Amino acid sequence: MLKSHSCGELRKEHIRREVTLAGWVHRRRDHGGLVFIDLRDREGIAQVVFNPEISKAVHRVADGLRTEYVVKVTGEVTQRPPGTENRKLSTGEIEVIAHDIQILNTSNTPPFYINEDVEVDENLCLKYRYLHLRRPRMKDNILLRHRVIRFTRDFLDAKGFVEIETPVLIKSTPEGARDYLVPSRIYPGKFYALPQSPQQLKQLLMVAGFEKYYQIARCFRDEDSRADRQPEFTQLDLEMSFVDEEDILNLLEELFTSLVETVKPEMQVLKPFPRLSYTEAMERYGTDKPDVRFGLEIRDLSDIVADSDFAVFRSAIQGAGKVKGICLPGCADYSHKQLGELTELAKAYGAKGLITLALPLDSDDGLEHLTLDKVKSVAAKYLTIEQVKEIARKFEAKLGDLVLIAAGEPKVVDKVLDELRREMGHRLHLTDSNLLAFVFIVGYPLLEWNDATGLWEPMHHPFTSPLEEDIPLLDTDPSQVRARHYDIVCNGCELSSGSIRIHTRQLQEKIFHLLGYSSDEIEARFGHLLEALEYGAPPHGGIAPGIDRLVMLLAGEESIREVIAFPKNQSAMDVMSDAPAPVSKEQLDELHLRLKDDGATQS
Ligand code: AMO
Repeated sequence: MLKSHSCGELRKEHIRREVTLAGWVHRRRDHGGLVFIDLRDREGIAQVVFNPEISKAVHRVADGLRTEYVVKVTGEVTQRPPGTENRKLSTGEIEVIAHDIQILNTSNTPPFYINEDVEVDENLCLKYRYLHLRRPRMKDNILLRHRVIRFTRDFLDAKGFVEIETPVLIKSTPEGARDYLVPSRIYPGKFYALPQSPQQLKQLLMVAGFEKYYQIARCFRDEDSRADRQPEFTQLDLEMSFVDEEDILNLLEELFTSLVETVKPEMQVLKPFPRLSYTEAMERYGTDKPDVRFGLEIRDLSDIVADSDFAVFRSAIQGAGKVKGICLPGCADYSHKQLGELTELAKAYGAKGLITLALPLDSDDGLEHLTLDKVKSVAAKYLTIEQVKEIARKFEAKLGDLVLIAAGEPKVVDKVLDELRREMGHRLHLTDSNLLAFVFIVGYPLLEWNDATGLWEPMHHPFTSPLEEDIPLLDTDPSQVRARHYDIVCNGCELSSGSIRIHTRQLQEKIFHLLGYSSDEIEARFGHLLEALEYGAPPHGGIAPGIDRLVMLLAGEESIREVIAFPKNQSAMDVMSDAPAPVSKEQLDELHLRLKDDGATQS
């Protein structure tokens, strides 16, 4: 090694030791004839002092250093003079008095500051990702990711799981997104698909008898990018034989709890993880991905306002819609402008408008003595005071609170109130950033009807088992069939999905038929799986937490791009190497592909 110690490891115990450090010049300062360098390596930063009285030649070299130069420095660790300690640095009590320096490499001026975490255009960061990753925050995120994966491997190993790699060139497996396809050179006109997840392969590993499998699996989905979505991402994919829902959920609760205790002990976890049924989650939060760190729960007001003369409410209810709301504590004095902003937000999520109902603080005698003239709302003149009080009671509201009401199609109302609730949770500082509120969501329906295609679709994927007692309903009322599916949500983010799987050919085939596949399609797409189910497939189930999302939550980041070393940008491009990129005519010929004039590919 070129170095004897890392910069970040030096402490008081090292005082009077001679050390050799190597790293990058993070900052350089001149002070009263001395040159100070903050020398950075992966483990942290150490202050190095160059004194011309110790060596003029070494001081001269230090004087010429620029940020991001790579240097090797030898010197003695000393205590910093009293009053110059830096409590923010773990090495802040010591400094290294250098007597030798060697420049290992120079550096161009970086396109953005590395020693300051100021915001930079994301494409610039991604083009120079290797420099962006030098920023301490980014480096810490990647190191955290390493610790999460290492902990997970050790944890699962101790529980008897085996890590098995599955192929990346496979046949398409349905997970609800578009596939990335890889044309075959050897078989003209045929394509591999990159796995959207190793779902079928892990089930086949259960048929093979491995009983407990996991993999840190790379998955590929061609879908629109979002803050929590990348075209390629990583799952902790796991599967177990001879288990029921409780076995999987208990394992995951233990894994996440002990993971947080080990890698982020300063963060709190809600224990035991609360459980919500899908129906309850939708009723209380308008989503199956609720952030339960705070209240502001949705209440259904339809019954209270059903016979009001207010056209907005009446037409919604007559059109089989709903009137629902949330209550913001202490927001009754919101200005016209603030209310306008909230209405615009609601519209952006699909609402036609937003009804606000303020319960003003200046009503002297409490809620029970409130009079209609005090209530600030366009709906007030169409409501009775009893209806207003009923609404207030639904929310256990107090004077000074503001109720936001959306009316219309149930799906839109839920979406709008979910988004408003999330936004107001942030604005009102109700989202404790040190709390990880994991929730199990259970009791999903197996299928949902798609009006556009006129077909049943799986709520998750077609391999999910229905509840045993609901199997007869597959023939009579598929909408009522409950799934043996579970999700894990944390702080409003969908972290994991999983289920107990179908393990008999007969039931799996029945589900495929119900989903509208023809017998030929079933054979072509899933023949191998169906056949395997006939060779003693054990009952099995599993789950797949998204590693990127998990690390994002642990790191307190808003986007998974901050915890992936080389992510794609928001338009699915790798701007560093410029991919996707054109390929040569020879490569296309080898793959039996010809480009259409408009740039699209056809075989
Ligand atoms: P699902 O499709 O719900 O289930 O995915 C499981 C978890 O993977 C993560 N995830 C993503 N993360 C980043 N970018 C994406 N584009 C992306 N898509 C999904 C999420 C999600 O909760 N085979 C099943 C699991 C099973 O049944 O065992 C599956 O893949 O955190």
